[in-house]
Amino acid sequence: MSSPARGTAPRLDQKALFAPLQEDLKRVDAAYHRALASDSPHVRKLVEHAALFRGKQLRPALVLLAGRAAGRETDDHVIVGAIVEMIHTATLLHDDVLDHATTRRNTPSVNALHGNEVPILLGDFIYAQAFALANTLDDRTAAIHLAQTTRRLCTGEIDQNCNRGRFDLSFPEYLRIIEDKTASLYAASARLGAWYAGATAEHVTALEEYGRLLGIAFQIIDDCLDLAGDERSVGKSLGTDLSERKMTLPLLRLLDRVPAATAARVRQMLADGAVGDPRAALGAIVDFAPDVLSAQATAEQFVREARARAQGLPQSPSRQTLLDIADFVLERDR
Ligand code: FPP
Ligand code: MG
Repeated sequence: MSSPARGTAPRLDQKALFAPLQEDLKRVDAAYHRALASDSPHVRKLVEHAALFRGKQLRPALVLLAGRAAGRETDDHVIVGAIVEMIHTATLLHDDVLDHATTRRNTPSVNALHGNEVPILLGDFIYAQAFALANTLDDRTAAIHLAQTTRRLCTGEIDQNCNRGRFDLSFPEYLRIIEDKTASLYAASARLGAWYAGATAEHVTALEEYGRLLGIAFQIIDDCLDLAGDERSVGKSLGTDLSERKMTLPLLRLLDRVPAATAARVRQMLADGAVGDPRAALGAIVDFAPDVLSAQATAEQFVREARARAQGLPQSPSRQTLLDIADFVLERDR
C-alpha cells in the first residue's frame, strides 16, 4: 500500500524510534507477565500465545513518553503501561472472534485454534487482571479512567456492529465509532502518562488530544490496510471489514465517488457476501486505489493535528519521539 506521506520505502524505523524506551518497555513486559501468572497450565499456555499478538507496544510507549515529555517517568508509568497493554490484548482476542479472523501477527488467532469460547474467556481473564493491577496503584485515576475507556471501547464495537451494512453511514458517525473503539485507549494512555507525571492540566489535555488524534489516524490507516494491504507483511487476516460489511473510510469514500450504478453493484456484492476473496471481488468491480489514497490523506490531516498538540509541550527528546511516532503511524505498512 503506498501512502501520500512517503515515497517507496518507510523513512522511520520503529526499532530506532523506540530505542530510548527499550529498558522501560522490558519492565512493562515483566509487569505484564507477572500480572498474568496463573496456576493453570492452560491459562499459562494461552497467555503466552496471546503475547505473540503484541507488536509495536505503542500504547505503553505512549504512557512512558507522555510521562517523560510532561516532566518525569515513575514506577507507576510502568504499571500503567502494562495495564493498557493488557486491555489492548484482551480487546484483540475478542475482536478476532467478532471478525472471524484467523491470523494476527502471522500467528493463528486463538479462535482459529480453539473456537470462540476460549478467546472470550481468556480476554475476560486478562481484562480482570488489568483492573486488579490498576487497583494496586495508590492513585485511583488509572482504574477510574480506564473503566470509562473500556466502556467506550465496547460502545465503539457495538455501534460498529449495529451499523454493519449501513452504506449511508456518515463521516461523523464513522469518526465517532473509531474514536470509541480505538482512539480512546490511545488518548487514555497519553493522558495517564501525563497525569502520573504530575503534569499541568494544560499538558494533560494536550497529550490526551495528541493520543486521540493519533489513534484516529492509526485506525484510518488500519482500515486502508484492511482493504489494500499485503496480508503477509501486515500479518493478520485482511478484507474482514468487507466480509463483515463494516463501513470504513476508504469504502465510504468509494461509495461516494463512483457512479450510482457502480455503487449499487458494490452494495449488492457486499450484501450477498463475496465468495472467496472479498477484496478481489471489490477490485473486479472498481479500482479502489483512489479511495485508499483519499482516506490516507484524511489520516494525514489527523496526524498533522496530533503533531500540533505535541508541539505545545516543552522541547525534549521525548516530545520529538511523539512527533516521529505520529509520522510512523502514517508510514506503517503493518
Ligand atoms: C480493532 O478493530 C478493535 C479494537 C481496537 C477494539 C476492540 C474492542 C472490543 C472487541 C471490546 C472488547 C473489550 C474488552 C475489554 C475485552 P479492527 O478489527 O479494525 O482491527 P484489526 O484490524 O487489528 O483486527
Ligand atoms: Mg479485527
